[in-house]
Amino acid sequence: MVPLSSSLHILQPRLDLYMKPLLSPRKLLFCRTFCSIASAPSPTENGGGGGRSGALVPAPEMERIDVNPPKGTRDFPPEEMRLRNWLFGHFREVSRLFGFEEVDFPVLESEALFIRKAGEEIRDQLYCFEDRGNRRVALRPELTPSLARLVIQKGKSAPLPLKWFAVGQCWRYERMTRGRRREHYQWNMDIIGVPEVTAEAELISSIVTFFKRIGITSSDVGFKVSSRKVLQEVLRCYSVPDELFGKVCIIIDKIEKLPTDVIKKDLKSAGIAEEAVQELLQLLTVKSLTKLEEKLGHAGEAVTDLKQLFWLAEKFGYSEWIQFDASVVRGLAYYTGIVFEGFDREGKLRAICGGGRYDRLLSTFGGDDIPACGFGFGDAVIVELLKEKGLLPDLGLEVHDIVCALDHDLLGPAATVATILREKGQSVDLVLESKSLKWVFKRAARINARRLILVGNTEWQKGMVGVKILSSGEQFEIKLNEL
Ligand code: HAM
Repeated sequence: MVPLSSSLHILQPRLDLYMKPLLSPRKLLFCRTFCSIASAPSPTENGGGGGRSGALVPAPEMERIDVNPPKGTRDFPPEEMRLRNWLFGHFREVSRLFGFEEVDFPVLESEALFIRKAGEEIRDQLYCFEDRGNRRVALRPELTPSLARLVIQKGKSAPLPLKWFAVGQCWRYERMTRGRRREHYQWNMDIIGVPEVTAEAELISSIVTFFKRIGITSSDVGFKVSSRKVLQEVLRCYSVPDELFGKVCIIIDKIEKLPTDVIKKDLKSAGIAEEAVQELLQLLTVKSLTKLEEKLGHAGEAVTDLKQLFWLAEKFGYSEWIQFDASVVRGLAYYTGIVFEGFDREGKLRAICGGGRYDRLLSTFGGDDIPACGFGFGDAVIVELLKEKGLLPDLGLEVHDIVCALDHDLLGPAATVATILREKGQSVDLVLESKSLKWVFKRAARINARRLILVGNTEWQKGMVGVKILSSGEQFEIKLNEL
């Protein structure tokens, strides 16, 4: 066998040349070690061993790939997958409690579906490319346009109202911050065909239900609520054409990210008169519905809708979760009425969820407009919040039985025992090789098995197996048909 150090010596110049700029010193060391193992003669060449270690012999030219997923994306190893399933389980269960049906759409859509003229940030974050058939396509950054497409496609065959939910992966080439990634999953609930504010109230109620289920209270989280009709009423007073509405909302949405002077300049370049700009900026500071009513009067749609929503919140029983805040506008062009965002009260995290009414999206795709509203709730910020609050669930693997053959010849009978148990609905970890009992006990502890089923020769001859209850240590023999 070639000593490792000598093979390392041969490989080193090439590795340093190719890998140094790409890898940290730690990764480089790992890579050197891997390559030195890889370059050693295979066990079979040496006449020994065999088995899986033979696979560790790539061609001498082979370079190690970066084992990290692309920046901003995630792997889901088992423990992460358990957390994800737990979260999605709650998304689905809450949607079921509210009588919603699950839908899904392709992750890859036509790029045109996501192109709107208003200058939204989401447009610049699009993962888009030309496919092999020269079609412009994009990885969806959100689910709402796909939902609208499907509603149009279904046409009159879908009886209104539709109450649809989806849990799907979205892609945005985003600047990475805490809770913001380049790929995330979103839980969406949308109601299509209801013009009344009861729809928004129902949607907020479903999010509150979700929070309560996972241990989050109204002292941890709140909803800031406003209506785009507030801005619309001001713009109409100044005779700003309706076509500019979406664009103005997108500019105003950046108010917390950009200096006021920049916002003013952008509004003016969009064609808004100085006086209207002043009025709009003034209005955005309003944080109470009474103040809003003083400014806009009580007859307009904005105030009527908002008052109705707050009244319904009381009836649903979640008043303490919501507050009026005129600065909530949201960064998507298509909203037309009530808008809302879930936020953490400590102010450490980005928006937890957001949504609103979008009554005119369908006509932008050439369909007939149908009143609609919904929300998107990401999987990343909520996990950060649960960590902050010490509320992450303890989710170990839970297998009911571990089945082990006491002898290599009994691997077949052990498989029979596993099948019997699985047909009864038990989750079973079958030990697939001959292993020592010490190894089996360690594994049983790792997978939180409740019972150890031992298949031994003497018992098997009698049509029986040994059982050990792992929590109590109790041991007995049992007939196969009584398992
Ligand atoms: P959005 O506010 O862009 O709305 O996203 C909704 C939620 O998705 C956010 O509040 C956040 O939880 C999550 N999210 C968005 N971008 C990222 C990211 N880069 N990384 C992690 N999480 C993210 C929409 O997408 C609308 N389509 C929601 C909607 C549905 N409105 C009506 N129906």
